Amino acid sequence: MLSARAFGGDFLGALQPETRFPGCKLMFTLGIHTRRQFDSLGPERRFSGFRTAYNLLDVGPNPSPDDIRAFEDVSFVLRTSNGTYRTSFRNRFTDVNLALDKWLQQLRPAAGVLRIQDRAVSHGLTATEWALHLRNTGPSLDFEASDLLLELLELTLADGTRYITEIDCTALQYISPPFVVSVFHPEIRRDIPQRLVSAWARRRFRHLNLPKGWADTSSGPGYTVRRLSCIHPEAAAMMRKGAGFRLVRRSLFDITPGACDVVRTMNILNRSYFSEEQLGVASNAIFDSLAPGGIWVLGRTLEEDFSNHVSILRREGSGWVVLDRLGSGSEIEDLAVAARRSS
Ligand SMILES: C[S@@+](CC[C@H](N)C(=O)[O-])C[C@H]1O[C@@H](n2cnc3c(N)ncnc32)[C@H](O)[C@@H]1O
Repeated sequence: MLSARAFGGDFLGALQPETRFPGCKLMFTLGIHTRRQFDSLGPERRFSGFRTAYNLLDVGPNPSPDDIRAFEDVSFVLRTSNGTYRTSFRNRFTDVNLALDKWLQQLRPAAGVLRIQDRAVSHGLTATEWALHLRNTGPSLDFEASDLLLELLELTLADGTRYITEIDCTALQYISPPFVVSVFHPEIRRDIPQRLVSAWARRRFRHLNLPKGWADTSSGPGYTVRRLSCIHPEAAAMMRKGAGFRLVRRSLFDITPGACDVVRTMNILNRSYFSEEQLGVASNAIFDSLAPGGIWVLGRTLEEDFSNHVSILRREGSGWVVLDRLGSGSEIEDLAVAARRSS
């Protein structure tokens, strides 16, 4: 597994709640385990950190616009075991989508289908927006959005307390009202009660003696299991409609030989998150996943002003050619070109 630094996520996500909002009431919150509590935080709820129970992601099968906003805000605070945050937001890539149009026009085979992979998409809202944009502008699409994390598990014990785990059973959070504590990433140093609850909950989890395969069941002796979707309701709706859009579990490092015409990786392959070597490996995996002449869109959103800095590269022969840049381009553009040359 890569280091936590490698998966550091976005700047906003990496900050503790009280750093983002000095003196805010969240410092004193033991846990946010109901939707009512979450809503009462107002605009600050997006920065409530791991005090917010991840099971609030469950907004039901027919979410209202308010529910959808709540889902987006809970996603914003979700931190996975590899250190990655799920930071993403509506209209994040409007300029990127527009800038790509002219390059994608050139790729379109007369009667063919444009094969796109949008990797590390978090809950998939930005992928959905891009697919809708492309649909409005014409091409027939085979659009695969992907991320490592598409769902979490909620394990409820006989006493009503809950653990939120990843699908490999790594426990992330313990919910025992009024407490909601992290059991994977360290609790805030000065929050002694939360640290004690967290240490106790970690020990308890280790000694639960759950049967092998519990994660694939819905209940067992003294526990029930519920799957929590981390897929944005609008992405889920688009998938239900079919029409060439799907959201699947895939690693950024996967190689799908020549399987697509376009790969996009936004806000994940950043120098501050990955070692040079890992970035080189990922770049070459993208190269090998593209058909000859295919396009790689890579970049990052700056937290200070939400501006996007993107490089658009084309696979040509055995290397990359830089087609275009938005802002100052990707911070790993040179590295990606060099990694290909030396491979
Ligand atoms: C900061 S979000 C970026 C979301 C979206 N691309 C955007 O820019 O709005 C980073 C995402 O990368 C995913 N991720 C982390 N490591 C990954 C890996 N090795 N393979 C695929 N996805 C990964 C995380 O689950 C998280 O959803």
